[in-house]
Amino acid sequence: MIDLKKNLARHEFRPYAERAKLESELAAAIVDKLSTALALTGKASLAVSGGSTPYGLFEQLSQANIDWPAVDVTLVDERWVETDSDQSNEKMLRQRLIINQAADAHFSGMKSSATNVDQGVTDYNQQLATQIKQPFDVVILGMGPDGHTASWFPDATETPAALDPKGVTDTLATYPASQNIPRITLSFACVARAKSIFLHITGADKRQVLETGLASAREQEKDLPIHQALCQFEQVVDIYWAE
Ligand code: 6PG
Repeated sequence: MIDLKKNLARHEFRPYAERAKLESELAAAIVDKLSTALALTGKASLAVSGGSTPYGLFEQLSQANIDWPAVDVTLVDERWVETDSDQSNEKMLRQRLIINQAADAHFSGMKSSATNVDQGVTDYNQQLATQIKQPFDVVILGMGPDGHTASWFPDATETPAALDPKGVTDTLATYPASQNIPRITLSFACVARAKSIFLHITGADKRQVLETGLASAREQEKDLPIHQALCQFEQVVDIYWAE
């Protein structure tokens, strides 16, 4: 089992009393990283997680005055649903991030017209290899109350392969028992090549899971995906947390 306290101490935990202040400072930190990449190479790439936590952050990011047409924006993971579904991370991004100044960003979704998620993985791997600057300049991770991050769920049989630091695939499908929809997700190996990784979480419950894990996982002597990922990342992850 991973020593959670020691594992976290290796990363940069940034607590905030107010979510609004977290969002403006996290947005500024991300814009700084993207601007540096744009100045150096003329291009930048950003992979973001879905869910509801980042709504305010995306609103802030969308207003940044940077060369968005030169920024490749994509998802860390996606639910395998139509992009007009309320469960679609792409739909949420188009409503909350690919707007304002960021409306001209070069966005690549993960959901293709493929009939199944496994074919979708093949399609997205092709996109990743040809249309999205790699390695990523910035990756923003979230975390679920069950300790999943990206779509590396504790109750998906594919998660050990997804978290393999020597994994050879950049994208894979996961079928978490707790989710009624298959997921397409970047692999740990792909995320770990990023220049900067941010973890954005809110609420006391998620902080407790991050700091002490889950009794159910401890009973099974299983490390949660978030802890395994933080243990394996070589770079220091900036962890932004607010109540
Ligand atoms: C998703 C996300 C996922 C998310 C967590 C947290 O598709 O759901 O990519 O990894 O970051 O589930 O979601 P909330 O922000 O809604 O709690």
